[in-house]
Amino acid sequence: MLQRPRRNRKSPVIRKMLEETVLLPSNLIYPLFLVDGKSKPDPIKSLPGIFRFSLDDLSKEIEICLGLGIKTFVLFPAVSDSLKDKKATYSYSSKNFYLKAISTLKKKFPEAVLMSDVAMDPYSSDGHDGLVKNGQIVNDETLPILAKMAVAQAEAGIDIVGPSDMMDGRVGFIREALDKAGHEDVSIMSYTAKYASAYYGPFRDALDSAPKSGDKKTYQMNPANKYEAVREALLDEQEGADILMVKPALCYLDVIHLLKESSVLPIAAYNVSGEYAMLKAACEKGWLNYDAAMSEQLLSIKRAGADVILTYFAKDFGKLFKKQNG
Ligand code: PBG
Repeated sequence: MLQRPRRNRKSPVIRKMLEETVLLPSNLIYPLFLVDGKSKPDPIKSLPGIFRFSLDDLSKEIEICLGLGIKTFVLFPAVSDSLKDKKATYSYSSKNFYLKAISTLKKKFPEAVLMSDVAMDPYSSDGHDGLVKNGQIVNDETLPILAKMAVAQAEAGIDIVGPSDMMDGRVGFIREALDKAGHEDVSIMSYTAKYASAYYGPFRDALDSAPKSGDKKTYQMNPANKYEAVREALLDEQEGADILMVKPALCYLDVIHLLKESSVLPIAAYNVSGEYAMLKAACEKGWLNYDAAMSEQLLSIKRAGADVILTYFAKDFGKLFKKQNG
């Protein structure tokens, strides 16, 4: 036999030397849920190990993560029902605890990179990402609301805004609004190919943000489609996005790969709440090895073409990486 591929696998050092994909803590973004006030960390049932944090506890969490090499965070606000309305006005109000928290965190941790979510759902009494009129999610009237939200977040000091709403034209609209307000340095990580997925369930539990009626299929993408993701990617590029995201990750590795091949922009993938919950549940039952399965999932997302991964595993991966690499 001339060809013996096993020779390249014969020792740990050779295997490491020939590794094609390397995953580092610096590739990960950790999602964190923030509540107003001074409550104790509130565990999210369907996301074991993930909490709704008050600002104090969230600061402690960020400090721990920075020590593990996890330096980028995407922040989500859990807003009480009394502050929600049809137009999500609290999202850009000067009283918004989320915006105040961004300012505080930016001052406290100048080295950390903070990313926001831009969509109406955490603030909307309808639980939709856009404005609801006569049962329809209206596109163009949503754009100014998203722009106000993004500018308010930029004013608070956010480094990256993450439009997750899937309205048409929102990246360009937000880019223009940010630039007009003097925030040309604020980046846009666009949720470019965001699918109408069953895997967002635990996230909606965390924020109590499920749609009050209907579903999100008129704006989020059909899981059956991948070439449509390229169309979205081309538009987001033209409209000034800095990073393109695919969401969810695991069922959409082909889409991640396709966008990586179709665009020169960095590609992010969101390893969403349901993907995390699924693995956690199997590990709680003792059916899978947590560290090994987590690492394999994250590595596979990177191998598919994601430069950056948003994942609830970030902190645990940081710990594991430290243990293995010192
Ligand atoms: C809000 C938003 C969602 C997620 C991120 N931003 C939920 C949704 O679109 O319904 C899901 C994240 C996750 O499941 O981890 N627009």
